[in-house]
Amino acid sequence: MRTYNELSPSPRTIMTPGPVEVDPRVLRALSYPILGQFDPEFTAYMNDTMEMLRSVFQTNNRWAFPVDGTSRSGLEAVLTSLIEPGDKVLIPIFGRFGHLLNEIAVRCGAEVTTLHAEWGTVFDQEEIVSAIKREKPDLVAVVHGETSTGRVQPLERIGPACREAGALLVVDAVATIGGVPVKTDEWGLDAVVGGTQKCLSVPSGMAPITFNERAERKILSRKRVERGIRPPGYEEPEGLGAPIQSNYLDLAQLMDYWSPTRLNHHTEMTSMLYGLREGLRIVLQEGLDNRFDRHRLNESALIAGLEAMGLALYGDPSCKMTVVTCVTIPEGVDGESVRTMLLDLFGIEIASSFGPLKGKIWRIGTMGYSCSRKNVLHLLGAFEAVLLRHGAEIKAGASLQAALDVYEGK
Ligand SMILES: Cc1ncc(COP(=O)(O)O)c(C=O)c1O
Repeated sequence: MRTYNELSPSPRTIMTPGPVEVDPRVLRALSYPILGQFDPEFTAYMNDTMEMLRSVFQTNNRWAFPVDGTSRSGLEAVLTSLIEPGDKVLIPIFGRFGHLLNEIAVRCGAEVTTLHAEWGTVFDQEEIVSAIKREKPDLVAVVHGETSTGRVQPLERIGPACREAGALLVVDAVATIGGVPVKTDEWGLDAVVGGTQKCLSVPSGMAPITFNERAERKILSRKRVERGIRPPGYEEPEGLGAPIQSNYLDLAQLMDYWSPTRLNHHTEMTSMLYGLREGLRIVLQEGLDNRFDRHRLNESALIAGLEAMGLALYGDPSCKMTVVTCVTIPEGVDGESVRTMLLDLFGIEIASSFGPLKGKIWRIGTMGYSCSRKNVLHLLGAFEAVLLRHGAEIKAGASLQAALDVYEGK
């Protein structure tokens, strides 16, 4: 019989837009003993997690909890629960993940109108506001931080326009939460989906979400209680909207599970909840503002180092996302070969991109636990060496000095 080696993953320096390195405290939390999902000790951890998520999402919403599954499970849960077949949905697209929102909305039976901005740019908010006035959608879904292009879409004028038009605003903040301000209440966002594996630095496998009472009303108008757990004498209210297509991602049922009712739904991902709770505790211990400052400082040092080498950054700098830096691959350099050498010789991982940008840019993440001076300096030194090995015409010797100047405040 074949025997298998003991699992022993290599320690890596992960400078991608996710998944990123995880604080050892989170890894330790993942190994704690299992508790039953209705054990009061465990439900207290669930409540702590809800409370900490409210702080991270900068909201007073009652509803803030993780959906079990990767970030797109959070997107699917929110969109499936809020979109009834035939609803009008508006989706501004400026990269791969806008297309994902469109794909999910179409599968929900929505009548979707899309807007398109050239990849590497974002929308002038007025363009989206005009489209809301023109199209009168029931729901608008937009990405905040587009990891495929490294751009961030300003949102503060879109929330009020949606309120005025009676539309719900759903935001994909998977890549920004915990690294870049996401002001759920101040910006008037009705539902926001975050990611664990990026700036929160928790492994992939849960999707923190929050939504307000406007969204809650729509969800409850479609609420069905599973037949097998209905209390005796339960009668379904009349006049409900279309049933929510998914059982697993049905937010009406998940609300009952995350409320004091604790109505049984799926079996909670106990260990992941421990990990998320510890990850959120770390974020709040650091403080949101300190954390945003740390992400900005390391971004500045990285950019200074890359530009000192003579590399060109991709995309419109006025909407650059702090936590993802895209670099144009120089003419004649094999981008994949550079990535392989970085990984094989230096243990550093950076990312390529998707669709029209495949083979054209590298994407470097500075997210969460991976966003450190050590990692930025390690990457810049290694990147310079590997690029020289590939015959790239770059300026040698200047990169680390430029980054060190930033760290020294020069
Ligand atoms: C902006 C954005 N949205 C959605 C997703 C999908 O997340 P997941 O792969 O965790 O399902 C990603 C993943 O990279 C992302 O960057």
